[in-house]
Amino acid sequence: MSSTPSRTLPSGDTLPLVGFGTWDLSEQDVRDVLPIALDSGYTHVDTAEGYQNEAAIGKVIADHNRDDLFLTSKVLPSNLHYESLLDALSQSLERLGTEYLDLYLVHWPNPAISLRDTLRALERAHEKGLVQNVGVSNFSLYQLQFAHRIADVPIAANQIEFHPWYVRQDLLEYCHEHDIVVEAAAPLARTAILDDPVLVEIAETHDVMPAQVALRWAVEKDVVVLPKSTNPDHIRANLGLFDWSLDADDVERIDQLDRQENVYMIDLDDDVYGVPA
Ligand SMILES: NC(=O)c1ccc[n+]([C@@H]2O[C@H](COP(=O)([O-])OP(=O)(O)OC[C@H]3O[C@@H](n4cnc5c(N)ncnc54)[C@H](OP(=O)(O)O)[C@@H]3O)[C@@H](O)[C@H]2O)c1
Repeated sequence: MSSTPSRTLPSGDTLPLVGFGTWDLSEQDVRDVLPIALDSGYTHVDTAEGYQNEAAIGKVIADHNRDDLFLTSKVLPSNLHYESLLDALSQSLERLGTEYLDLYLVHWPNPAISLRDTLRALERAHEKGLVQNVGVSNFSLYQLQFAHRIADVPIAANQIEFHPWYVRQDLLEYCHEHDIVVEAAAPLARTAILDDPVLVEIAETHDVMPAQVALRWAVEKDVVVLPKSTNPDHIRANLGLFDWSLDADDVERIDQLDRQENVYMIDLDDDVYGVPA
Protein backbone atom coordinates (compact mmCIF):
# COMPACT_ATOMS: atom_id res chain seq x y z
CA MET A 1 0.00 0.00 0.00
CA SER A 2 2.77 2.42 0.95
CA SER A 3 6.49 2.89 0.55
CA THR A 4 6.63 4.16 4.14
CA PRO A 5 7.61 1.32 6.49
CA SER A 6 4.59 -0.06 8.27
CA ARG A 7 3.39 -2.23 11.15
CA THR A 8 1.25 -5.27 10.49
CA LEU A 9 -1.95 -5.31 12.54
CA PRO A 10 -3.61 -8.48 13.89
CA SER A 11 -6.02 -8.32 10.92
CA GLY A 12 -3.07 -8.52 8.51
CA ASP A 13 -3.58 -4.90 7.40
CA THR A 14 -0.51 -2.70 7.26
CA LEU A 15 -0.40 0.57 9.15
CA PRO A 16 2.19 3.08 7.80
CA LEU A 17 4.53 4.22 10.58
CA VAL A 18 3.97 7.88 9.67
CA GLY A 19 0.49 9.33 9.40
CA PHE A 20 -0.69 12.86 8.69
CA GLY A 21 -2.27 14.39 11.81
CA THR A 22 -5.22 16.71 11.23
CA TRP A 23 -6.26 17.99 14.66
CA ASP A 24 -7.08 21.71 14.51
CA LEU A 25 -6.85 21.86 10.72
CA SER A 26 -9.73 23.97 9.42
CA GLU A 27 -11.56 22.93 6.27
CA GLN A 28 -9.47 25.48 4.35
CA ASP A 29 -6.24 24.11 5.88
CA VAL A 30 -7.27 20.62 4.79
CA ARG A 31 -7.93 21.81 1.25
CA ASP A 32 -4.55 23.56 1.21
CA VAL A 33 -2.27 20.99 2.82
CA LEU A 34 -3.76 17.51 2.56
CA PRO A 35 -3.14 17.38 -1.22
CA ILE A 36 0.51 18.32 -0.54
CA ALA A 37 0.78 15.55 2.05
CA LEU A 38 -0.75 12.95 -0.26
CA ASP A 39 1.44 14.06 -3.17
CA SER A 40 4.49 13.83 -0.89
CA GLY A 41 3.77 10.18 -0.18
CA TYR A 42 1.60 10.10 2.96
CA THR A 43 -0.95 7.31 2.69
CA HIS A 44 -2.12 7.40 6.30
CA VAL A 45 -4.47 10.13 7.56
CA ASP A 46 -5.65 10.58 11.13
CA THR A 47 -8.87 12.46 11.87
CA ALA A 48 -11.79 12.36 14.31
CA GLU A 49 -15.42 13.41 14.38
CA GLY A 50 -14.32 15.97 16.99
CA TYR A 51 -11.90 17.64 14.55
CA GLN A 52 -14.82 18.80 12.40
CA ASN A 53 -12.82 18.42 9.21
CA GLU A 54 -13.94 15.00 7.98
CA ALA A 55 -16.06 16.46 5.16
CA ALA A 56 -13.09 18.46 3.82
CA ILE A 57 -10.86 15.38 4.06
CA GLY A 58 -13.53 13.38 2.22
CA LYS A 59 -13.47 15.85 -0.66
CA VAL A 60 -9.68 15.70 -0.99
CA ILE A 61 -9.40 11.91 -0.80
CA ALA A 62 -12.21 11.49 -3.32
CA ASP A 63 -9.53 12.03 -6.00
CA HIS A 64 -7.45 9.14 -4.66
CA ASN A 65 -7.73 5.39 -4.80
CA ARG A 66 -9.38 4.57 -1.47
CA ASP A 67 -7.56 1.24 -1.16
CA ASP A 68 -4.21 3.06 -1.23
CA LEU A 69 -5.10 5.01 1.92
CA PHE A 70 -5.15 4.08 5.58
CA LEU A 71 -7.87 6.22 7.12
CA THR A 72 -8.44 6.55 10.87
CA SER A 73 -11.26 8.35 12.62
CA LYS A 74 -12.41 8.50 16.23
CA VAL A 75 -15.68 8.55 18.07
CA LEU A 76 -16.28 11.22 20.71
CA PRO A 77 -16.59 10.07 24.33
CA SER A 78 -20.16 11.39 24.40
CA ASN A 79 -21.10 8.90 21.64
CA LEU A 80 -19.98 5.65 23.23
CA HIS A 81 -23.38 4.03 23.82
CA TYR A 82 -24.09 1.20 21.35
CA GLU A 83 -26.56 3.05 19.09
CA SER A 84 -24.81 6.41 19.37
CA LEU A 85 -21.49 4.91 18.32
CA LEU A 86 -22.99 3.23 15.26
CA ASP A 87 -24.76 6.50 14.37
CA ALA A 88 -21.58 8.52 14.83
CA LEU A 89 -19.67 6.04 12.66
CA SER A 90 -22.22 6.21 9.91
CA GLN A 91 -21.99 10.02 9.92
CA SER A 92 -18.18 9.91 9.83
CA LEU A 93 -18.30 7.52 6.86
CA GLU A 94 -20.76 9.77 5.08
CA ARG A 95 -18.65 12.90 5.65
CA LEU A 96 -15.46 11.10 4.60
CA GLY A 97 -17.23 9.70 1.52
CA THR A 98 -16.04 6.17 2.21
CA GLU A 99 -17.65 2.82 2.90
CA TYR A 100 -15.13 1.82 5.55
CA LEU A 101 -12.48 3.08 7.92
CA ASP A 102 -9.17 1.30 8.27
CA LEU A 103 -9.11 2.10 11.97
CA TYR A 104 -11.80 3.44 14.30
CA LEU A 105 -10.79 4.58 17.77
CA VAL A 106 -12.59 5.47 20.97
CA HIS A 107 -11.22 9.02 21.27
CA TRP A 108 -11.25 9.19 25.07
CA PRO A 109 -12.54 6.77 27.69
CA ASN A 110 -15.84 7.76 29.27
CA PRO A 111 -16.34 6.41 32.79
CA ALA A 112 -20.06 7.23 32.58
CA ILE A 113 -20.68 4.73 29.74
CA SER A 114 -20.25 0.94 29.85
CA LEU A 115 -17.11 -0.08 28.00
CA ARG A 116 -18.77 -3.43 27.21
CA ASP A 117 -21.52 -1.53 25.37
CA THR A 118 -18.93 0.47 23.41
CA LEU A 119 -16.91 -2.62 22.49
CA ARG A 120 -20.05 -4.47 21.36
CA ALA A 121 -20.78 -1.58 18.99
CA LEU A 122 -17.21 -1.65 17.65
CA GLU A 123 -17.49 -5.42 17.15
CA ARG A 124 -20.77 -4.94 15.27
CA ALA A 125 -19.16 -2.27 13.05
CA HIS A 126 -16.27 -4.64 12.41
CA GLU A 127 -18.59 -7.56 11.54
CA LYS A 128 -20.45 -5.32 9.09
CA GLY A 129 -17.16 -4.38 7.39
CA LEU A 130 -17.58 -0.70 8.28
CA VAL A 131 -14.26 -0.69 10.14
CA GLN A 132 -11.32 -2.93 9.35
CA ASN A 133 -9.64 -2.48 12.74
CA VAL A 134 -10.70 -1.03 16.06
CA GLY A 135 -8.77 0.60 18.85
CA VAL A 136 -8.74 3.15 21.61
CA SER A 137 -7.08 6.44 22.41
CA ASN A 138 -5.96 8.10 25.62
CA PHE A 139 -6.49 4.87 27.55
CA SER A 140 -4.32 4.41 30.64
CA LEU A 141 -2.66 1.07 31.29
CA TYR A 142 -5.51 0.03 33.60
CA GLN A 143 -8.20 1.06 31.10
CA LEU A 144 -6.40 -0.70 28.27
CA GLN A 145 -5.93 -3.93 30.24
CA PHE A 146 -9.63 -3.93 31.02
CA ALA A 147 -10.64 -3.27 27.40
CA HIS A 148 -8.23 -5.90 26.14
CA ARG A 149 -9.64 -8.50 28.53
CA ILE A 150 -13.29 -8.01 27.55
CA ALA A 151 -13.02 -7.26 23.81
CA ASP A 152 -13.97 -9.95 21.30
CA VAL A 153 -12.18 -8.15 18.50
CA PRO A 154 -8.46 -7.34 18.75
CA ILE A 155 -7.67 -3.87 20.10
CA ALA A 156 -5.28 -2.93 17.31
CA ALA A 157 -4.01 0.39 18.67
CA ASN A 158 -3.88 2.82 21.57
CA GLN A 159 -3.28 6.41 20.41
CA ILE A 160 -1.67 8.31 23.26
CA GLU A 161 0.44 11.37 23.83
CA PHE A 162 4.02 10.24 23.26
CA HIS A 163 7.20 12.28 22.69
CA PRO A 164 10.65 12.58 24.29
CA TRP A 165 9.28 14.63 27.20
CA TYR A 166 6.38 12.26 27.90
CA VAL A 167 6.89 8.51 27.86
CA ARG A 168 4.75 5.98 29.67
CA GLN A 169 7.10 3.05 29.63
CA ASP A 170 4.73 0.59 31.35
CA LEU A 171 1.97 1.35 28.84
CA LEU A 172 4.41 1.07 25.93
CA GLU A 173 5.66 -2.32 27.15
CA TYR A 174 2.15 -3.66 27.71
CA CYS A 175 1.17 -2.64 24.17
CA HIS A 176 4.23 -4.23 22.63
CA GLU A 177 3.73 -7.46 24.60
CA HIS A 178 0.09 -7.69 23.46
CA ASP A 179 0.53 -6.68 19.84
CA ILE A 180 -1.26 -3.35 20.30
CA VAL A 181 0.25 -0.57 18.21
CA VAL A 182 1.13 2.62 20.05
CA GLU A 183 0.29 5.66 17.97
CA ALA A 184 1.98 8.88 19.08
CA ALA A 185 -0.48 11.76 19.28
CA ALA A 186 1.29 15.11 19.45
CA PRO A 187 4.64 13.45 18.64
CA LEU A 188 6.27 16.91 18.51
CA ALA A 189 4.58 18.00 21.76
CA ARG A 190 2.94 20.73 19.68
CA THR A 191 6.46 22.20 19.11
CA ALA A 192 7.33 22.42 22.84
CA ILE A 193 10.25 19.98 22.48
CA LEU A 194 11.76 21.45 19.33
CA ASP A 195 14.17 23.78 21.12
CA ASP A 196 15.40 21.07 23.46
CA PRO A 197 19.23 21.42 23.25
CA VAL A 198 19.76 17.66 23.03
CA LEU A 199 17.38 17.31 20.08
CA VAL A 200 18.90 20.40 18.42
CA GLU A 201 22.43 19.04 18.81
CA ILE A 202 21.56 15.56 17.53
CA ALA A 203 19.70 17.14 14.59
CA GLU A 204 22.81 19.15 13.66
CA THR A 205 24.94 16.00 13.72
CA HIS A 206 22.64 14.23 11.29
CA ASP A 207 21.83 17.34 9.24
CA VAL A 208 18.09 16.98 9.89
CA MET A 209 15.45 18.96 11.82
CA PRO A 210 14.85 18.50 15.57
CA ALA A 211 11.34 17.37 14.64
CA GLN A 212 12.78 14.58 12.52
CA VAL A 213 14.96 13.47 15.42
CA ALA A 214 11.92 13.19 17.72
CA LEU A 215 9.93 11.31 15.07
CA ARG A 216 12.79 8.95 14.19
CA TRP A 217 13.33 8.20 17.90
CA ALA A 218 9.64 7.20 18.18
CA VAL A 219 9.55 5.00 15.07
CA GLU A 220 12.72 3.24 16.27
CA LYS A 221 10.59 2.21 19.26
CA ASP A 222 8.01 0.82 16.85
CA VAL A 223 5.65 3.69 17.62
CA VAL A 224 3.53 5.12 14.81
CA VAL A 225 3.83 8.92 14.56
CA LEU A 226 1.13 11.36 13.47
CA PRO A 227 2.83 14.74 12.99
CA LYS A 228 0.58 17.62 11.94
CA SER A 229 1.88 20.48 9.82
CA THR A 230 0.64 23.23 7.54
CA ASN A 231 4.13 23.94 6.21
CA PRO A 232 5.01 22.04 3.01
CA ASP A 233 8.71 21.75 3.96
CA HIS A 234 7.80 20.32 7.36
CA ILE A 235 5.20 17.99 5.82
CA ARG A 236 7.83 16.49 3.53
CA ALA A 237 10.56 16.41 6.19
CA ASN A 238 8.32 14.57 8.65
CA LEU A 239 8.11 11.69 6.18
CA GLY A 240 11.88 11.71 5.61
CA LEU A 241 12.78 9.43 8.49
CA PHE A 242 13.95 6.28 6.81
CA ASP A 243 17.11 7.07 4.87
CA TRP A 244 19.13 7.89 8.01
CA SER A 245 19.13 6.63 11.60
CA LEU A 246 20.02 7.62 15.12
CA ASP A 247 23.12 6.21 16.83
CA ALA A 248 22.62 4.11 19.96
CA ASP A 249 24.14 6.95 21.96
CA ASP A 250 21.61 9.44 20.51
CA VAL A 251 18.73 7.16 21.50
CA GLU A 252 20.09 6.87 25.02
CA ARG A 253 20.38 10.66 25.35
CA ILE A 254 16.83 11.19 24.07
CA ASP A 255 15.53 8.50 26.44
CA GLN A 256 16.94 10.60 29.30
CA LEU A 257 14.79 13.60 28.32
CA ASP A 258 11.55 12.17 29.70
CA ARG A 259 10.15 14.61 32.25
CA GLN A 260 6.58 13.30 32.36
CA GLU A 261 5.42 16.55 30.81
CA ASN A 262 2.30 16.30 28.69
CA VAL A 263 0.92 19.03 26.42
CA TYR A 264 -2.70 18.02 26.06
CA MET A 265 -5.24 16.81 28.51
CA ILE A 266 -9.00 16.64 28.91
CA ASP A 267 -10.62 19.95 29.73
CA LEU A 268 -13.71 18.91 31.65
CA ASP A 269 -15.34 22.24 30.77
CA ASP A 270 -15.49 20.93 27.20
CA ASP A 271 -18.12 18.41 28.32
CA VAL A 272 -16.29 15.59 26.55
CA TYR A 273 -18.11 12.93 28.55
CA GLY A 274 -21.50 14.12 27.39
CA VAL A 275 -22.46 15.04 30.94
CA PRO A 276 -22.22 18.48 32.55
CA ALA A 277 -18.78 19.01 34.08
N1 LIG B 1 -6.12 11.05 20.15
C1 LIG B 1 -5.99 12.26 20.66
O1 LIG B 1 -6.61 12.65 21.66
C2 LIG B 1 -5.03 13.20 20.00
C3 LIG B 1 -4.55 14.31 20.71
C4 LIG B 1 -3.61 15.13 20.08
C5 LIG B 1 -3.20 14.85 18.79
N2 LIG B 1 -3.72 13.77 18.11
C6 LIG B 1 -3.31 13.45 16.72
O2 LIG B 1 -1.91 13.66 16.61
C7 LIG B 1 -1.69 14.65 15.60
C8 LIG B 1 -0.45 15.47 15.92
O3 LIG B 1 -0.60 16.17 17.13
P1 LIG B 1 -0.75 17.77 17.21
O4 LIG B 1 -1.37 18.24 15.96
O5 LIG B 1 -1.44 18.08 18.48
O6 LIG B 1 0.74 18.30 17.39
P2 LIG B 1 2.20 17.91 16.85
O7 LIG B 1 2.12 17.14 15.58
O8 LIG B 1 2.97 17.38 17.99
O9 LIG B 1 2.76 19.36 16.54
C9 LIG B 1 2.24 20.15 15.52
C10 LIG B 1 3.06 21.44 15.47
O10 LIG B 1 4.41 21.11 15.08
C11 LIG B 1 4.82 21.95 14.02
N3 LIG B 1 5.68 21.16 13.15
C12 LIG B 1 5.33 20.06 12.43
N4 LIG B 1 6.41 19.57 11.77
C13 LIG B 1 7.45 20.38 12.07
C14 LIG B 1 8.81 20.38 11.68
N5 LIG B 1 9.31 19.45 10.85
N6 LIG B 1 9.60 21.37 12.18
C15 LIG B 1 9.11 22.32 13.01
N7 LIG B 1 7.81 22.36 13.42
C16 LIG B 1 7.00 21.39 12.94
C17 LIG B 1 3.56 22.40 13.34
O11 LIG B 1 3.75 23.68 12.81
P3 LIG B 1 3.81 23.94 11.21
O12 LIG B 1 2.39 23.89 10.73
O13 LIG B 1 4.43 25.29 11.13
O14 LIG B 1 4.67 22.87 10.61
C18 LIG B 1 2.56 22.44 14.48
O15 LIG B 1 2.59 23.70 15.13
C19 LIG B 1 -2.99 15.48 15.61
O16 LIG B 1 -3.07 16.33 14.50
C20 LIG B 1 -4.00 14.38 15.71
O17 LIG B 1 -4.17 13.76 14.45
C21 LIG B 1 -4.60 12.96 18.71
